[in-house]
Amino acid sequence: MRKLMMTTAVATLIATGCISAFSQEVKEVEMLHWWTSGGEAAALNVLKTDLANEGFGWKDVPVAGGGGDAAMTALKAMVAAGTYPTASQMLGYSVLDYAAAGVMGDLTETAIKEGWDKSVPLALQQFSVYDGKWVAAPVNIHSVNWLWISKPVMEKIGGTEPKTFDDLIALLDKAKAAGVVPLALGGQDWQEATMFDSVVLSTGGPEFYKKAFNDLDEESLGSDTMNQSFDNLAKLISYVDPNFAGRDWNLATAMVIKDEALVQVMGDWAKGEFSAAKEAPDTDFLCYRFPGTDGSVIYNSDMFGMFNVPEDRKAAQIALATATLSPSFQSAFNVVKGSVPARTDVPDTDFDACGKKGMADLKAANDGGTLFGSLAQGYGAPPAIANAYKDVVTKFVHGQIKTSEEAVTELVKAINDAR
Ligand code: BGC
Repeated sequence: MRKLMMTTAVATLIATGCISAFSQEVKEVEMLHWWTSGGEAAALNVLKTDLANEGFGWKDVPVAGGGGDAAMTALKAMVAAGTYPTASQMLGYSVLDYAAAGVMGDLTETAIKEGWDKSVPLALQQFSVYDGKWVAAPVNIHSVNWLWISKPVMEKIGGTEPKTFDDLIALLDKAKAAGVVPLALGGQDWQEATMFDSVVLSTGGPEFYKKAFNDLDEESLGSDTMNQSFDNLAKLISYVDPNFAGRDWNLATAMVIKDEALVQVMGDWAKGEFSAAKEAPDTDFLCYRFPGTDGSVIYNSDMFGMFNVPEDRKAAQIALATATLSPSFQSAFNVVKGSVPARTDVPDTDFDACGKKGMADLKAANDGGTLFGSLAQGYGAPPAIANAYKDVVTKFVHGQIKTSEEAVTELVKAINDAR
């Protein structure tokens, strides 16, 4: 009886937070992510090493699949079971959804101490701060409107930088005539939609992209310009090889790295693969903006969404957040990842030519009001709408939706249903 009373008293003290002596700090970070390719794993190692140097272990929860759809399904199950990871890689609107559900932690104290509000661009703060509280640590800024080109193939076909969509088609024709796969693509919904983001920006221009894919303006979504965008997508798809269905994005990048294909249209995580294969810009590969999109940047940012973990795991979470936003990590990690820093005060010294261009383009777009969230990559609209979008694009690419007219009608309907 006496023992029971003591136990009850101690339990009360713990519950009211009066003692914490019994809970040993857990010096481990549990992280859910979809960084499973060679370049991604190399980038993640930079973080693991930094944390190990501070005495924190790493429990890896990898769930492959770019755009993070599979990872988000796994995260949903973990959260439903009440087993929150320390942090999860997340994109834009997903962070806000989990914050609204009340399962995120609060990093505001650390953020204030470290002045994140002054160094993290406002475009990212919109997704890492919820209800006045910091709930996520932004890791990087990726952008999707890029072409990744094999330099040897370009030389072989005598090609030059395509400045317009028609130039790009002419270039793809040259590659085809030379017996090289013109366009390396993985036929998965998120890859196709990521490419279509660029096609829409190129076809309709910055104002149109914003109205259609950030403001979700119904008239723009159902317009002739959207129809023309699907026509342009169909043209591009006519240059992929017969085995593209289901191919992983990094295998498509590998086709360009191995000079088996001319070009991949992909976010700059593709550059992480070139770097991992020891290829350098201007020598082995070329990075150009998707033709007709110069001056604009379609972005996404990987965020480490921080969950409301038990008290004994909070120190590790704060160490993770602090490490993530440290200027030296922001440089070292993003050099390897292919992205650019999530802080505005990191020098571009260590970045290669494409990285330097990425940083300069981002600044110009941010200053000029032409920085737009990627609809395919979780920064244009909440997940239900992004999924509706990906679904229509992939049905069009794989012939379940036959014409551009039908695709436009389906897009408007699917997005309206998901609103
Ligand atoms: C992420 C990148 C990742 C890519 C492919 C994107 O959604 O933002 O960090 O490299 O997916 O896995």
